[in-house]
Amino acid sequence: MKPLKIGVIGLGAIGSRLVEILSREFHRQGRIAYLCDLRKEKILEIRKKFAPQARALSWQRLVASSDLVIETASQEIAFPVAQRALRLNKQVLILSVGGLLAAKDLASLLEKTKGRLWIPSGALAGIDGILAAGAGTLRQVTLTTRKPVRGLEGAPYLNEKGIRLDAIKKPTLIFEGNALEAIRAFPKNVNVAATLALAGVGAEKTRVRVFASPTYRENQHEVVAEGDFGTLRAEVRSRPSASNPKTSELAILSAVATLRKIFSRIHLGS
Ligand SMILES: NC(=O)c1ccc[n+]([C@@H]2O[C@H](COP(=O)([O-])OP(=O)(O)OC[C@H]3O[C@@H](n4cnc5c(N)ncnc54)[C@H](O)[C@@H]3O)[C@@H](O)[C@H]2O)c1
Repeated sequence: MKPLKIGVIGLGAIGSRLVEILSREFHRQGRIAYLCDLRKEKILEIRKKFAPQARALSWQRLVASSDLVIETASQEIAFPVAQRALRLNKQVLILSVGGLLAAKDLASLLEKTKGRLWIPSGALAGIDGILAAGAGTLRQVTLTTRKPVRGLEGAPYLNEKGIRLDAIKKPTLIFEGNALEAIRAFPKNVNVAATLALAGVGAEKTRVRVFASPTYRENQHEVVAEGDFGTLRAEVRSRPSASNPKTSELAILSAVATLRKIFSRIHLGS
């Protein structure tokens, strides 16, 4: 099979690691052909280190030229990228999942396409169980996220509510709401809430709680779900990425695992 032409949009903590791993582990299955980032210096750096053959393109041209599009940029761009890619029957892997949750016409878009949308589990465990449970009756899904304070810096919700992170000295509940509200409040911090909502009971019914503390060393996500099958409880404590403390190391690895799935003949897990 001819290697897929891969385009990567967003070359930060996740995107740069994916380019590195793709060029090392998956070079037979895919070739990094196109790169896009608002920061030109990032493109130069990544080309120099891992993908000298890759061309820099606008995201629109990148999507049109690639067989597989990887979005690791921002919520604002996630739905436009997915929309364009799917309309052109491409495969598209989206990391900024919050951007999909707010989009009203995702379901109708998916109905009309032969493209494929891939969404990694991120730093969550339990998505397999949630999907299986959803094949029966799933009644309640709750995500409790605990983050070190520096993993929440810059979130719009903190400004809106006048929450000062430096005033938090111990584990403190700073947000409680549904997944849609969580994604608006913390667009760069709780993409997993969107993934969980898409996998389970939807944006409005998925409950989210966010705790912050300077005493936390890891990003923690705990999922609890109840349905006719019984109860599911899954917890992950992930080291924050060295290049972006908002991003969990496991989120990066989960994107790598999804790439393995794309290129593999065996698809494990529900
Ligand atoms: N699904 C998950 O579980 C999960 C987990 C962690 C992070 N994320 C999301 O994945 C995305 C990437 O995370 P990261 O840690 O690599 O972030 P990052 O901030 O380290 O890197 C993002 C990169 O994208 C670039 N960028 C931003 N907007 C762009 C645009 N419109 N066009 C082109 N380039 C653009 C930035 O310049 C930057 O280089 C973020 O949206 C983040 O919220 C998802």
